[in-house]
Amino acid sequence: MIDLTTNYLGLTLKNPLVPSSSPLTANIDDAKRLEDAGASAIVLPSLFEENIHYEQKQLEKYIHSQALGNYETDSFHPVPDDYNGELDNYLEHLHAVKESLDIPVIASLNGVSDSGWLEYGKGLEQAGADALELNVYYISADPEQSSEVVEQRYLSLLCNLRQHVDIPIAMKLSSQFSSVSHMVKKLQQAGAEGVVLFNRFYQPDINLETLHIKPQIELSNPAEALLRIRWLALIRNRVDLSLAATGGFHTVESIIKALLAGADVVYLCSVLLSKGPEYYSQLLQQLTDWLTEREYESVQQMQGSLNQSCALDPVAYEHSNYIDVLKSYRP
Ligand SMILES: Cc1cc2nc3c(=O)[nH]c(=O)nc-3n(C[C@H](O)[C@H](O)[C@H](O)COP(=O)(O)O)c2cc1C
Repeated sequence: MIDLTTNYLGLTLKNPLVPSSSPLTANIDDAKRLEDAGASAIVLPSLFEENIHYEQKQLEKYIHSQALGNYETDSFHPVPDDYNGELDNYLEHLHAVKESLDIPVIASLNGVSDSGWLEYGKGLEQAGADALELNVYYISADPEQSSEVVEQRYLSLLCNLRQHVDIPIAMKLSSQFSSVSHMVKKLQQAGAEGVVLFNRFYQPDINLETLHIKPQIELSNPAEALLRIRWLALIRNRVDLSLAATGGFHTVESIIKALLAGADVVYLCSVLLSKGPEYYSQLLQQLTDWLTEREYESVQQMQGSLNQSCALDPVAYEHSNYIDVLKSYRP
């Protein structure tokens, strides 16, 4: 019997496959189906700072318009006592998921400013989240803003939250840093228990008929996994925190590669959205079969065994063979 357990953010998970934030984890029935299929933990969809701010503005507008002296009392509609805002709904969902499932539940926060996060973070901890994921979905287009300022934003959000929340925190990062390793190291020093590599930025498109900018979301494709695998291999031995891989993991082969490169867990999203929650159990079975055929005793035995410092050809993970790769192309 192979030991599939892995350690992620200080939590012992029964296997390394984790369904990440998506509409599937927003729904209790689907979350239950994932647990039944063998999921070792789930990450809830994010609580979006933007939505909370928008909602607060709408509420203020509403209250202001009521207070403007509409003397016809029957047209005055106070905010009902049982009004549930974005945060309340999220906490209710988290609570309900915790009640229904036995596996760890990771809550997720998405935002870029310092305001409110302490309150949200504390609320999530009190509602039973086993860990927190912080997704700083930030695109800096301002030429006056240096990379240091952008990085400081991530660090300051983390430090703020770290001071007020005791549960483990993972930072979900994009790959667009000048030095990914340095950034991860700084996050580790600032108290992150893990990083999730890499967030996908959804790319807006231009509609050539209307000339409007069209926001769109597309599921990932398997080629995206290689970027993650390379960075896992490059940083595994250089940092001391949990590593999750996300983005393009659709097949057991890519999952195995991420684990060999150094992932503690591999997140699954697009593949479960397109094939359904039950597909999880097939991937888990395929992973178990692969380990059995190669006589591994545990997942931990193979985790990181092909990180850069252990690889037969370490420079292959970097750019030294760039020219050879270019030359190897045959039209
Ligand atoms: C429909 C959809 C909704 C998502 N919602 C969230 C979210 O709320 N928060 C978050 O951090 N990531 C969210 N993600 C990103 C996924 O969790 C995942 O990191 C990303 O899709 C890459 O993994 P994949 O290639 O397995 O899809 C979402 C992805 C999709 C497709």
